[in-house]
Parts: sequence; structure tokens; C-alpha cells
Amino acid sequence: MKKVIIINGPNLNLLGKREPEIYGANTFEDFFNELKQTYKTIALSYFQSNIEGELINKLHEVGFNFDGVVLNAAAYTHTSVAIADAVKGIETPVVEVHISNVHAREAFRHKSYLAANAKGVISGFGLQSYNLAIQSFL
Ligand code: DQA
Repeated sequence: MKKVIIINGPNLNLLGKREPEIYGANTFEDFFNELKQTYKTIALSYFQSNIEGELINKLHEVGFNFDGVVLNAAAYTHTSVAIADAVKGIETPVVEVHISNVHAREAFRHKSYLAANAKGVISGFGLQSYNLAIQSFL
């Protein structure tokens, strides 16, 4: 069975409550349960942290034995050389995802430190961005 992990960065624990006009009204936990029903043939796991180093530790932990990482590094996408280096340093392919279309928002969200070392980037499809990223590993 393929092993795929979704890693969510800062503030994404507030999904459902945070700026619902941008990020929607669903909690990630509910959505993740739906995803697990949809993809019964892959071992899907989920990790969220607001702490940059914890995201890096998780990338190191899964990065040599998982088949795919779906990474929404949230605001760290636009700031973190350290997470970019982790994405570059691991073997498991990483798909960068965003719920919102970052290119339709403020200019500081147009820059991604991760994208150059990602397998690809999916942005702007709401929670379905995660769904599309998982499909890229099938
Ligand atoms: C986000 C976009 C980022 O710019 C923002 O900082 C987030 C969420 C998204 O999923 O649309 O926290 O990654």
C-alpha cells in the first residue's frame, strides 16, 4: 500500500473558523475523514504544526520511506528557507498545495521558497487542492 502524508503548517488548525470566506467552513479533520473513505487503497496520514522545526522534523521522518508528501506549509511557504532545504533534502516527492489561489492575493504570497523543489504546485481549488495532490501520487 502506498504511504502518503498530508502536512499542514501554521494556522491551518483553525480551518472552519479562520477567514471562512477564503478558506471555507469545513474543519480539516472532517475533510480528512472523507479523504480516507475516498482513498481506501492508500495509507493516508495527517500531521499539523504551527512550529517550523516540527514541520521540518516530520519531513525528515517521512522523507525516506513514504511515497508522497502533500505539503501546505501555509505562510512558511513564503518565508522559510529551512523548509525549502528540507523539501530538497528528502527523497519522497512533495506536492505543494494551497487552498486559496495565492497568485490572486497579496504580492508577498506570490513567492514560494518550496516550489522549485516540489514535484508540482496546486493552488486555488479549496480543499480539493489536497484531493488533486493525492491523485498525482496514484
Ligand atoms: C495558504 C496560503 C498562504 O498564503 C497562507 O499564509 C495560508 C494558507 C492556503 O492554503 O491558501 O496560511 O497556504
